[in-house]
Amino acid sequence: MLTRVGHRVDRGRLLGHLNELARFGGADGGGVSREGFGEADNAARAYLTGQAESLGLTASVDPAGNLLIRRRRSHEPERPVLLFGSHLDSVTNGGRYDGAYGVVAALEVLAHFAEHPGPMAYEPVAVAFANEEGALFPCPFFGSKALVGMVNSADGIVDHDGRPLRAALSAAGGDPDALATAAWPAGSIGAFLELHVEQGPILERCGTPIGIVDVVTGRSILDITLNGRQNHAGTTPMDARCDALVAAAKLIVAIENLAREQGVCSVATVGTIDSAPNVTNVIPGSVTLTAEIRDGSPQRLAAAERAILQLVAESDTHHNSARVTMRSAPTETDPRIRACVAEAAAELGFATMGLSSGAGHDAQIIAAAAPVAVIFVPSRDGISHAPAEHTDPEDLVAGADVLLGTVRRMLFTVPAPGARP
Ligand code: HGY
Ligand code: MN
Ligand code: MN
Repeated sequence: MLTRVGHRVDRGRLLGHLNELARFGGADGGGVSREGFGEADNAARAYLTGQAESLGLTASVDPAGNLLIRRRRSHEPERPVLLFGSHLDSVTNGGRYDGAYGVVAALEVLAHFAEHPGPMAYEPVAVAFANEEGALFPCPFFGSKALVGMVNSADGIVDHDGRPLRAALSAAGGDPDALATAAWPAGSIGAFLELHVEQGPILERCGTPIGIVDVVTGRSILDITLNGRQNHAGTTPMDARCDALVAAAKLIVAIENLAREQGVCSVATVGTIDSAPNVTNVIPGSVTLTAEIRDGSPQRLAAAERAILQLVAESDTHHNSARVTMRSAPTETDPRIRACVAEAAAELGFATMGLSSGAGHDAQIIAAAAPVAVIFVPSRDGISHAPAEHTDPEDLVAGADVLLGTVRRMLFTVPAPGARP
């Protein structure tokens, strides 16, 4: 039976679920590798399903692999949904809070309303989105994009070892042939709330427990291939070489300098590189790498994309290729919901501050279909996407209580944006 402590989440259960989830893909050094549609991700989905059912809720996996958790009995199944949650997957050797925290908090909040019989402006639903990171299958935001009708095929997507997404999606309980049915009808999502660790240093530096995000950063990912001339590392004179890895090294520094020295965009990162044939005594013939750039301005992002394409065209190698494989727009959150979050935090006695998000979030995808808000709690030393990622339990519980208070307001007091009177 639920232990209702006023309008507060069950602290022990929240932290317990978070610790349990960290076991799925957990490594001895404290990192978590729960890449989307991998075995650990599937096991975590099954664990959460069991926990939801033990809390008197029902859980189901949609064709895109999203885990949707609902109340057993809804008194008005047709009303718009107040959706809240985050993603279940992680990066490789990442932290235990990124995504998972927002999911376990959403489960806690939904459990709070499991038996609530009263009229509500929305039907509350919790969600664990699939493959937000894209660490195994390079299609980030896959689950949230499917929910808003931006994905209808898994064809042609493979992991680093060539394993097709179709098979992995089926193994996760999804249905690659029914992806289009994962899209929710227009107007069915009244609003979406995402609670997340900040993954940056601002809240900790300011000593503020709750962040209310105003803009989520835009982001572009480019796949780049440089083709040089594979040759013998001993017999090829230095002036006769076309070394793809040397060209890539120059390109990587030039891409970083777009942000660090020229300020074309906020941040620029080359996170992956593959050199072929990757043998000590062979001059690399070709190199593939991914570059990603982020900024709050679509114009600056476009300028940075153009600058990277120009750098590739000017590279010493030949027959190069570069293409944008993912673009997510900078996204403003909803001011009315931000005000709800601020009131909920104030009622609980928590200070808040506005800030932008340098990390991408499923909320910026769902924003295509509904008003959204993102609530942050502090990250120790601002570290994330690394085993050292940490947030104090007090801050974790505070954030979940603010999410609960915000949901209460939106269900019972504030006329919901898009809800019927
Ligand atoms: O990379 C990001 O910003 C997010 O953590 N997926
Ligand atoms: Mn992340
Ligand atoms: Mn995340």
